[in-house]
Amino acid sequence: MSRVLVVGGTGLAGRAVTAEAVARGHQVVVAARRIPDDDSPAYVDGVAYVTADLVTGAGLEEAVDGVDVLIDASNAGGRRASHVFAHGSRNLLHTAARYGVGHAVLLSIAGIDGARYPYYRSKLAQERTYLDSPLEVRIVRTTQFHDFVTSVFERGRRFGTVTAPSSTRVQPIALTDVARVLVDAAEGSGEPGTRTVGGPRVESARSLARQWKDATGTRRPILSVRLGGPLGSAWRAGRHLAPEHAVDGGTGYAAWLTESA
Ligand SMILES: NC(=O)c1ccc[n+]([C@@H]2O[C@H](COP(=O)([O-])OP(=O)(O)OC[C@H]3O[C@@H](n4cnc5c(N)ncnc54)[C@H](OP(=O)(O)O)[C@@H]3O)[C@@H](O)[C@H]2O)c1
Repeated sequence: MSRVLVVGGTGLAGRAVTAEAVARGHQVVVAARRIPDDDSPAYVDGVAYVTADLVTGAGLEEAVDGVDVLIDASNAGGRRASHVFAHGSRNLLHTAARYGVGHAVLLSIAGIDGARYPYYRSKLAQERTYLDSPLEVRIVRTTQFHDFVTSVFERGRRFGTVTAPSSTRVQPIALTDVARVLVDAAEGSGEPGTRTVGGPRVESARSLARQWKDATGTRRPILSVRLGGPLGSAWRAGRHLAPEHAVDGGTGYAAWLTESA
């Protein structure tokens, strides 16, 4: 059993990682700016919650104290992304090194090398910060989460449609699979460095949207939308896919929809 810190352990991926680490018998500390109430879906029984802010550094010493390995599943959007991913990671890793934390695992995104999309560039800066740190680092890049792909379909709701990016294939992955791989890495599985893990299947966004329609029973029509900017072109080019790194025995989108119903 190790003492594992999950930074951003109240978020979408962080909760799954926290639950997986607890289930494997680790002693788990979660750090985030807001601590969930015990009736919140973000709350995992048996976890020590610490209020900490990556950017200001408040609470980080308490969070890393006595920790063997940290898993970073934090996130930020828009302009905050570069602060949290670069500056926040530096704060975290500097404090962790001072407190003798030996290992770190970072959740990142498949196919971001050479990206022009600002959020992906911030993730690359975060990866460099990790790789330059004195800790033994494992970066796990994954493809898009099932939940994220679903949120794209749901964006059409206010227009009475199901939005699906046109000419785009996706290889979505279940958070339970992401969590399994991240906790494996925290336990020292695989060589230090960067690895990529993808969902079990590559499918068109339209086909996934159809599966979502079938599962939810919505009668809204699918609207193909051409995603603009550097993200749209990267996705149409399939740079976010990793078919050669499909997760072993992973839960596909249709099975995930059935399980989540
Ligand atoms: N979405 C995808 O499909 C996908 C695919 C591959 C990789 N990823 C990566 O997965 C990671 C997690 O994404 P997610 O969607 O699970 O995130 P999320 O649900 O938005 O959760 C973010 C977490 O970070 C915490 N956080 C944010 N700012 C913080 C700060 N300044 N100090 C401390 N904690 C902070 C949040 O808690 P508080 O707000 O309370 O602080 C929360 O616990 C991201 O790095 C993302 O790039 C995502």
